[in-house]
Amino acid sequence: MHRKGLSQQEIFDQLQQYHEKDMEYVSGNILGSMCTCAHPIAKKVYCDFLDSNLGDPGLFKGTKQLEDEVIKNIGVLLGDDAVCGHVITGGTEANLMAIRAARNLARQNNSIDSGEIIVPKSAHFSFKKSADILGVQLKEASLDDEYKIDLNSVQEQISTKTVAVVGVAGTTELGKVDPIPELSNLCLDENIYLHIDAAFGGFIIPFLKEMGYDIPEFDFRLKGVSSITIDPHKMGLTPIPTGCILFREKKFLEVMSIETPYLTEKLQSTIVGTRSGASAAATWAIMNYMGFEGYLEIASRCMNTTDFLARKLRRAGFRLVSSPELNIVTFTSPKISVTELAQKLKQKGWVVSVSSYPVAIRIVVMPHISRAHILRFIEDLKNIHSS
Ligand SMILES: Cc1ncc(COP(=O)(O)O)c(C=O)c1O
Repeated sequence: MHRKGLSQQEIFDQLQQYHEKDMEYVSGNILGSMCTCAHPIAKKVYCDFLDSNLGDPGLFKGTKQLEDEVIKNIGVLLGDDAVCGHVITGGTEANLMAIRAARNLARQNNSIDSGEIIVPKSAHFSFKKSADILGVQLKEASLDDEYKIDLNSVQEQISTKTVAVVGVAGTTELGKVDPIPELSNLCLDENIYLHIDAAFGGFIIPFLKEMGYDIPEFDFRLKGVSSITIDPHKMGLTPIPTGCILFREKKFLEVMSIETPYLTEKLQSTIVGTRSGASAAATWAIMNYMGFEGYLEIASRCMNTTDFLARKLRRAGFRLVSSPELNIVTFTSPKISVTELAQKLKQKGWVVSVSSYPVAIRIVVMPHISRAHILRFIEDLKNIHSS
């Protein structure tokens, strides 16, 4: 630290140099991220609420009300307006909270000490972190031919130690939606906690269903679903960090509540103590500003661009891993390896990501990606192939 502070101008000039090294979504070159440019209104509101602390909600009653309204509004989107939950930092924290609730509940009911969770092989790595932090064992269920959770495999892994089963609505790598209605029935029969990770899918599947896409139910409309992760900072257009955890019943929050002697609330269920209210306010603002129709339009645009990309890739001789279910396209080249292709694309300025199962180039068609970007990308792919 400098002994004497720098001037504003010096600070801004220096920061500019750092900022210039960052990539920008608007360039269209970020092709493998599940985040995107936040909406300008959400950014403004985020800045307005920077000082509010939801870790001490008695001091920030208005922001707490905004958080409650966000949870209720997302609950309505996901089929239950009586849900409870929190606006938190993202999918990782939401999944951790869900597994913590399930584990604590099982401990309370059956005196299980550690327990096991069953997740699909396609689950996000945040479940590995959750298992590690919470001391539960992670068991992976295999996938079927369409890269969705295999129900027989889940059934085989269920034991007296199972504290939760996880289904994914919009897998990270391929954007697949697991057969959640069947998982829900299975978990109801076995009396097991079912958590749905809709971190990515939560802000697009409801709109695609409205448009007539054939995607099964995945939310609280299914009686077996106990909790859902949904991330406004992915397809919801809010600034990072914004995730939400929603529970069907208050008891899931209560089972992990801790006394907070010196704060304005007496019990706290979140993992984080001091936490920003800016995310809750920004989410409230953008959901009200966009409305259902605004998100419908974004979903429609992303899927049109996704189909456009898939068509162009096929025509250029690339192999799609499968037909895209959401706005994620994964493909391989018949001529060069995935690693080499990713490297050559990087040399041309494109940052794609590489899926691990199966190994393929993965493009997430977020709202910042336009047809013009896709056309430039396809041209570069063709050039790489012909060189
Ligand atoms: C399905 C899914 N769950 C959880 C996460 C973790 O979310 P975050 O990075 O916001 O913690 C991701 C991130 O991409 C995801 O795709």
